[in-house]
Amino acid sequence: MPEDDRKDSLLKWDERFRSEGCVLGTNPSAYLIENMNTIISLAPGRRAVDIACGEGRNSIYLAKQGFQVVGLDISEAGLAKGRQWMEQEGVQIDFRLVNLETYQFTESYDLVINCNFLLRDLIPKSVAALSPGGIMVFDTLLDSPYVPTTHKKEFLLQPGELVRIFQGFPGAILVQEERLHDQMPTAKLIFRKK
Ligand SMILES: C[S@@+](CC[C@H](N)C(=O)[O-])C[C@H]1O[C@@H](n2cnc3c(N)ncnc32)[C@H](O)[C@@H]1O
Repeated sequence: MPEDDRKDSLLKWDERFRSEGCVLGTNPSAYLIENMNTIISLAPGRRAVDIACGEGRNSIYLAKQGFQVVGLDISEAGLAKGRQWMEQEGVQIDFRLVNLETYQFTESYDLVINCNFLLRDLIPKSVAALSPGGIMVFDTLLDSPYVPTTHKKEFLLQPGELVRIFQGFPGAILVQEERLHDQMPTAKLIFRKK
């Protein structure tokens, strides 16, 4: 991504997260909730990483489900909110300030979640960070005529793209769908590494 776009993106998120309340709401991803029983039954362990965790709504949910969670994000304002929220909820999350464009995973995880964020170069690294049998949950915006034009094209998946990417990795796509007609169209997928 061009440097100016990256700075814009960071400033935008930092500014939003400094506002009152939770920008992305306090409810965890509905897709994560829908699939939690499957995830719990299949994940080989309880180490999880929440990619671009923002204010931590999904990290907190995973911690409550018994996962040891690392939350990664570039926004200090988002992470600060997450840390405060985590204390109120009485859970422990390792929130880390990182730039995912250059980030290298140094640990392996039984569960990787990637919600509302797209950095194509990070996907192979995320799969590599999964332990054998580990689960990856991907749920992010899909390009369609219904997506507001304020969203940059490069942050949107193209139809069929998510499946094509994951077909190239050793493992199985357990479920996948594209919700083109939702208010915010998304592509969703759950992958299990071999
Ligand atoms: C739409 S929010 C999603 C937050 C969270 N996944 C959720 O669904 O609640 C996108 C997040 O990506 C983060 N982000 C953007 N660029 C990033 C980068 N280069 N490295 C790390 N995080 C980044 C932003 O700070 C923001 O928290």
